[in-house]
Amino acid sequence: MTRTLGPLTDFDVDKPTQVTIDDEKYLVIRRSQSPDEVCVVRDRCPHAGLSLSRGPRGGYENGVITCPWHNSRFDVCSGENLDWTPGFAGFTAPGWSRKLIAMGKSPAPLTVLSVSVQDGQVVIDE
Ligand code: FES
Repeated sequence: MTRTLGPLTDFDVDKPTQVTIDDEKYLVIRRSQSPDEVCVVRDRCPHAGLSLSRGPRGGYENGVITCPWHNSRFDVCSGENLDWTPGFAGFTAPGWSRKLIAMGKSPAPLTVLSVSVQDGQVVIDE
């Protein structure tokens, strides 16, 4: 099933933008390295299922998004987990506490969607 998320030019460069369709939340990321392309992931952290774009802290820089809740970091185009539960709300916790913060969950990638730009529109295929 394909879904149109909107015109490419509606998405600011280096500013992940949340789009909601049928109660499903997506993050559209247009990177400055290749602004004519986009990456799209589900706006749901694989750690606790919370939003990557709404929360106490977090952020995005150079293709890497930091979860605002427990600071896990992910490559937004490959979905690869780069760091798993290193703290809370932007604050780094002691290394020994990572397993506690992880709440028994093993590192996992983001859900990356197949995306293309068709006639200027961002289209995902799931
Ligand atoms: S919900 Fe994202 S790291 Fe915990």
